[in-house]
Amino acid sequence: MSSPANRLALVGYGRMGRLVEELAPAHGFEVVLKLDEFNNQEAAGVTRENFAGVDVAIDFSMPDVVAENAVRIAELGVPLAIGTTGWLDQLERVRAAVERHDAALVYGANFSIGVNAFYRIVAAAAQAFAGQPDYDAFLYEAHHKYKKDAPSGTALRLLDAVREAGYARPVDVATQRSGQFPGIHELGFDSAADTIRVSHTARNRVGFASGALKAARWIMGQRGVHEFSQVWDRLD
Ligand SMILES: NC(=O)c1ccc[n+]([C@@H]2O[C@H](COP(=O)([O-])OP(=O)(O)OC[C@H]3O[C@@H](n4cnc5c(N)ncnc54)[C@H](OP(=O)(O)O)[C@@H]3O)[C@@H](O)[C@H]2O)c1
Repeated sequence: MSSPANRLALVGYGRMGRLVEELAPAHGFEVVLKLDEFNNQEAAGVTRENFAGVDVAIDFSMPDVVAENAVRIAELGVPLAIGTTGWLDQLERVRAAVERHDAALVYGANFSIGVNAFYRIVAAAAQAFAGQPDYDAFLYEAHHKYKKDAPSGTALRLLDAVREAGYARPVDVATQRSGQFPGIHELGFDSAADTIRVSHTARNRVGFASGALKAARWIMGQRGVHEFSQVWDRLD
């Protein structure tokens, strides 16, 4: 007999929330709660009653509502996976709540496995050019016209990877918001002699949604705060 589905709460029911709902059964989840801008103003929907029996929650909402939702979900002791970007200035507040309540959180600017492998490729490229002053670095990202934050959370994570790899010179950053692009990120190095580009292009949102469901499954067995790029290659 197959094991019963894990009970999943969705915080945010936009493009990503709806796709997570569609893919949830194939990943062994049953969506039992959906919070949106109507039933969750100022996190009013994050109550003990609404979350009774919920095993894990996934947040794909808006940058300015993430922290309050996450603090309240931590108070309920429900593990949480956050895919929303643009809220990391609130990370320490959220971390304190997770630790105070012995709860669990995984967050990631990008839940696609391909992008998380791409972070490593970018780090290797940055390391190779760190000691080559004839080369200037540039970062370009493009997303659909509805995306609220710019540069993208993934672009900021890529810049961190470049810095951590020892590339200390300026990186010129360009962003584009138009059309329907699910996400393009490119790091390049240019000199008088040549140009080197490494890029990732998302074909659709499926990789983000299935990565979020894998992150949700993993965080159910954990405690504390984890960044997805540090754990993605340990998931089932
Ligand atoms: N980590 C990843 O892999 C990944 C991948 C794709 C996207 N993202 C990020 O995920 C987030 C969501 O993306 P999306 O394309 O799904 O955006 P979206 O379609 O705009 O969905 C966000 C939803 O959250 C709703 N919302 C507003 N206030 C809320 C509240 N208090 N509680 C709960 N929900 C509320 C919004 O409602 P209204 O629009 O009516 O206000 C909207 O339906 C963005 O930050 C995006 O950058 C991350």
